[in-house]
Amino acid sequence: MKRGKLITFEGIDGCGKTTQFRLLEKYLRERDLGFISTREPGGTELGRKIRSVLLDGGKGSVDPVAELLLYTADRAHHVRRVILPALEAGKIVLSDRFYDATTVYQGYARGFDLGLVKQLNELATCGLKPDLTLLFDLDVEVALRRTQKRIDDVTGAASQPDRLDSEPLEFHQRVRQAYLEIATLEPQRFRIIPAGGSIEETYKLMMRQVEERIRKLR
Ligand SMILES: Nc1ncnc2c1ncn2[C@@H]1O[C@H](COP(=O)(O)OP(=O)(O)O)[C@@H](O)[C@H]1O
Ligand SMILES: [Mg+2]
Repeated sequence: MKRGKLITFEGIDGCGKTTQFRLLEKYLRERDLGFISTREPGGTELGRKIRSVLLDGGKGSVDPVAELLLYTADRAHHVRRVILPALEAGKIVLSDRFYDATTVYQGYARGFDLGLVKQLNELATCGLKPDLTLLFDLDVEVALRRTQKRIDDVTGAASQPDRLDSEPLEFHQRVRQAYLEIATLEPQRFRIIPAGGSIEETYKLMMRQVEERIRKLR
């Protein structure tokens, strides 16, 4: 069995990851390409509990060290129980965020030593790297305005700001710059998708990057 491919979605909150993720799911479904969809944090039952601890509390509710370890715990379980088995079964795995998010949020933005973050990421992932990482790049203020209009996936109500939404603009700017920086370090793996256009425009830009990789799978 040929190993599957891991495609991850990254970028600041509100850049359009989940919107484009749903569109790529539709594309794969229509073509009967075997895939699974998952996300971090929260790709497993254990992970969903960790996710609610991480995102639902108010500012200051999770100590930064605990936060780093909770993301790592979520990922360790997720990789072993969900991602690796699916790849071994030859499936495409789509993940809405993966370890790059820890590199930029906990490493670059919160200031944890990048060597330590790398070690924790490697422990959690068993050294697994995505085959393709789509980085949706968007101006921070535009992204923030989008999140203020976001409707909650589950309840259909206007979504409440989560713990990270309440960080200052400067924090999100650091995250954006960090994503761009790590993308330049691994140009083979990353594709930067300018995400300031309409949903359709961004979809076209994404598919330009994805179609070539998917073709190679068939
Ligand atoms: N290209 C776009 N133009 C305008 N609004 C968008 C666009 N893409 C997504 N949105 C809207 O912006 C909000 C945030 O998008 P979302 O996909 O949830 O971002 P993320 O998952 O990166 O946080 C949602 O309400 C979504 O409908
Ligand atoms: Mg999202």
